[in-house]
Amino acid sequence: MKQIINVELKTWKVDFIKCETDLLAVGQFSDVKGLDTPSRELNSKLDDEIERVIKLGDFKGKEGTSAVVYGKDRVAAKRVLLVGLGERKKATLDTVRKAAANAANKAVEKKAKTLGIALHRAFGGRFDLAAMGKALAEGTYFGSYRYDEFVTGSEDGRLSSLSVEVIDSDSAKIKKLNKGVTSGVIVGKAQSYARTLANRPANVINPPKLAAIAKDLARASKRLSCTVFDEKQLSAKGMGGVLAVGSGSKSPPRLIVLRYRPPGKGAGSKPTIGLVGKAITFDSGGISIKPADHMDEMKLDKTGGITVLGTMKAAAEMELPLNVYGIIPSAENMPGGTSYRPGDIITTFSGKTVEVLNTDAEGRMILCDALTYAVKEKCDIIIDIATLTGACRIALGKYMAALMSNDAQLTKQLQRAAEDSGEKVWPMPSGDEYAQEMKSKIADLKNIGSKWGGACTGAAFLRQFVDDAKWAHLDIAGTEMFEKATEFTTEGSSGFGVRLLTTYLMNLAGK
Ligand code: BES
Ligand code: MN
Ligand code: ZN
Repeated sequence: MKQIINVELKTWKVDFIKCETDLLAVGQFSDVKGLDTPSRELNSKLDDEIERVIKLGDFKGKEGTSAVVYGKDRVAAKRVLLVGLGERKKATLDTVRKAAANAANKAVEKKAKTLGIALHRAFGGRFDLAAMGKALAEGTYFGSYRYDEFVTGSEDGRLSSLSVEVIDSDSAKIKKLNKGVTSGVIVGKAQSYARTLANRPANVINPPKLAAIAKDLARASKRLSCTVFDEKQLSAKGMGGVLAVGSGSKSPPRLIVLRYRPPGKGAGSKPTIGLVGKAITFDSGGISIKPADHMDEMKLDKTGGITVLGTMKAAAEMELPLNVYGIIPSAENMPGGTSYRPGDIITTFSGKTVEVLNTDAEGRMILCDALTYAVKEKCDIIIDIATLTGACRIALGKYMAALMSNDAQLTKQLQRAAEDSGEKVWPMPSGDEYAQEMKSKIADLKNIGSKWGGACTGAAFLRQFVDDAKWAHLDIAGTEMFEKATEFTTEGSSGFGVRLLTTYLMNLAGK
């Protein structure tokens, strides 16, 4: 199988005029009169070409836009890419990240072998350099990502590698940038890893295969271990939810448990975080089958779980001083003679019974068992992430994930991580009124609520399984996929959650 683009990113102390590269990216705000540094210096060396492009109106510095100016003898770069940064006063760290994504996306488009990034220069001292380094690295991976491992034609094919350098002539600045670049590279690579796994179709990844991938990940790291429960063990443990959802498929369900242990002594005194991710390798809806239109998108219904895999990878590479569980219930939701049916009453791992009224509300059926597992393992904090409801997509669209929680501090910490990572969240309720709707007359719970507030009733269902743990739920049904390519990245899985969750863990660890 073909590999995704191999992107390597480093810092390089060099004057940007002397930076030998295929493409040199510099930033330009839309509301700054004249040219931003360093375009001003470049402009004079390029015989005012940059000014000309701007005066012609071909490039106005708007976010998501860019323009190319070709290098002349006095500039070492073959091309200069002007990257729009939007309005100066609106700029955030995500502006930095998106600019890098835009530049890296263009570099791949132009088949550049090397990319020099001087985007941070336009921001002056506005943001911490390490934070900018992290954002630049994350953006570079995000923008250069492509998924074409099953495309066999090589004509007009993309290059297999891209070498990127964040450049500055000041060695003190390079040192600070480098600190952030190092962690940003880990996060960026983990996100690309997650995107590729998510993009792979259901005939390539089923629950046992996902379990094997998790085992491979753990084998490659001395800080990670992995336990997989197969259908027999699930049945012995009484995980009725995972078993019910998996019962209609030829590929049996799994519960995948990854464990990260921090280096050094005193690990026991560090908090334990349980990350729980929904991994439905394909969601046909089951007996309550979905319409045919867009059903192919449901190969992405495993993304919550895969986001957890990517986060565990990054946490281990960063050696964060925390204990982290990655708990991934995985099943394929298919209709068939052995499927679970509407009307069935399932006894979950918690002992609570659930009346199934729609087999397409399967995410909560597998997550509840995984949440109980996290409670039994005494996680202090439990965060679940899932492509749970179409209702969430309708409510928030593709820009933000829904955040439901039973703890104000955890909500704040996740909001902070969202700001730092550019993966946005919006708080939504999941309290008593919603929980009320999930009560069944003939079992403890039912798996669907009324017609309204589906994202909230889904979360309220999950909330019943976390006991006294601090808990948050992220519904990524809207943010997980791009139907179309944007200026910043390609279509398909966005890997949403890897940056958010790793940044949350890094902040918690004080890194
Ligand atoms: N995986 C879907 C949710 C989904 C829909 C994710 C669209 C991404 C895009 C989930 O399992 C589902 O089918 N939810 C149902 C719940 C309903 C039956 C209560 C839904 O949203 O329709
Ligand atoms: Mn479903
Ligand atoms: Zn689903």
